[in-house]
Amino acid sequence: MAEPFYITTAINYPNGRPHIGHAYEGIATDVVARFQRMMGRDVRFITGTDEHGLKMDQTARKMGRATIDLADEMSAYFREMADTLNLSYDDFVRTTEPRHHAASLELWRRMEAAGDLYLDRYEGWYSVRDEAFYDESELTEGEGGEKLSPQGTPVEWTAEETWFFRLSNYQDKLLALYRDNPGFIRPESRRNEVLRFVEAGLKDLSVSRTSFDWGVPVPNSPGHVMYVWVDALTTYMTGVGFPDADGEMFQRYWPANIHMIGKDIVRFHTVYWPAFLMSAGLPLPKQVFGHGFLLARGGEKMSKSAGNVVDPMDLAARFGVDPLRYFFMREIAFGQDGSYSAEAIVQRANGELGNAFGNLAQRTLGFIAKNLDGYLPVIRGHTEADTALFEAVDKAISKDIPEAFESLALQQGVEAWLQAVFACNAYIDSEAPWALRKTDPERMETVLATLYICIAQLAVAIAPVIPASSAKLLDTMGIAPDLRSYEGIRSHWYSPLAESDFRIVAPTPLFPRLELPAEESA
Ligand code: MSP
Repeated sequence: MAEPFYITTAINYPNGRPHIGHAYEGIATDVVARFQRMMGRDVRFITGTDEHGLKMDQTARKMGRATIDLADEMSAYFREMADTLNLSYDDFVRTTEPRHHAASLELWRRMEAAGDLYLDRYEGWYSVRDEAFYDESELTEGEGGEKLSPQGTPVEWTAEETWFFRLSNYQDKLLALYRDNPGFIRPESRRNEVLRFVEAGLKDLSVSRTSFDWGVPVPNSPGHVMYVWVDALTTYMTGVGFPDADGEMFQRYWPANIHMIGKDIVRFHTVYWPAFLMSAGLPLPKQVFGHGFLLARGGEKMSKSAGNVVDPMDLAARFGVDPLRYFFMREIAFGQDGSYSAEAIVQRANGELGNAFGNLAQRTLGFIAKNLDGYLPVIRGHTEADTALFEAVDKAISKDIPEAFESLALQQGVEAWLQAVFACNAYIDSEAPWALRKTDPERMETVLATLYICIAQLAVAIAPVIPASSAKLLDTMGIAPDLRSYEGIRSHWYSPLAESDFRIVAPTPLFPRLELPAEESA
């Protein structure tokens, strides 16, 4: 039976429409999910929306709307984004769903049974934007003297009766977890931040709120709702059938292989979450990956107040979904911050997808359609150049690309693919099949067959990044679905296909050339 692989995105706050940061995380997670499926694993991929908490409640109030109305409307946009971007998620969890309340209650019950919850009074700083409690020592001062969280968001003084979680009891266990599992927090820089935070000592954590009621009610404790991060993190288990911890789905997929999140929420995932799970007697996720931030044009932070928030749906409509997905994976070293600009998308899409890969396929298949009547060419003996190209492409698809994707070096995976594409371009230019048509038709066939095989392999290898374009090309090429895996495309599939009745019809361009509107090319 295939090895299970469970991956999640963070669940997004639906207090506004999605922005490209959300899209970026969804795409990166989808690339990994699709890659793992192609490696033959039994993948489960979960995303969703984080609908409780003060931020949601206040946003709705300011708009004069019922909070659930705002959540319903905005959550639908996040789902629409996931569908538009072709994210292959298996389930979309909303924290307002009854199944999720049941999961949160069960986690709470387990933590209470472990003796880790007690009632007391919380007095301290809270950032509504981060939905986080901060210690005085973590705060900085803004330009007007106001206190700011480490994320630069405003904090307010909060005093109320709350339930506390005995986080202080977990300091040693957490340090042992990080020590024994160096891959638990990635990349390394985030791991160091967390280590420093935990080594400095952990205080018990306030895990309920009484000043508002938009949340999961705490059992047997009227007036208390769970702190939004307690229920938010639990989504990862709701997505695999919790509270039914003995159920088939939970047994099969839990613990998660990867929680994909942004660098701003690493503490919640690598300190609070494993401590909650230890307390509840549940297995811990294998890895938390804190990716970098996508910055607006000019490297600025995106924010509603700066007015530089980019709508991913607009980008997808302007440039196409696959060019956008490709751009994000190609442009930014995964784990680091990166910036977006329309010029950069257009440049990558036209230069690498359009010219380097699209034209290569177009020329080769068009030539076969025109000069061989669409019948696939036959290999008639190899030259050194053919063998060298096969070896380069084989190394890319059997080693460089899968190793990079497996280790989440997503940009390197795309680079390895592009190098192999360049090798095909150098080959077609030097072998010049159009010149061989008259002088040596047999050699021409071998060259076209070699290119055909390599293009099919490269189309499969890049499928996790540009799934729709890859599928379209592979359909045109007659590559059966069961061959579309890293293993499948290495076997001896070509001769039977070339001997079959399959014929190529002249292909339409895969990546239409993008134009940059004049005001943006300035
Ligand atoms: N609701 C919490 C997560 C709960 S997970 C149990 C949250 N939501 S969020 O909507 O603010 O962010 C969702 C994800 O998008 C987070 O992983 C966050 O880091 C990521 N990003 C938000 N802005 C981003 C960029 N500008 N760039 C890249 N990712 C960013 O946090």
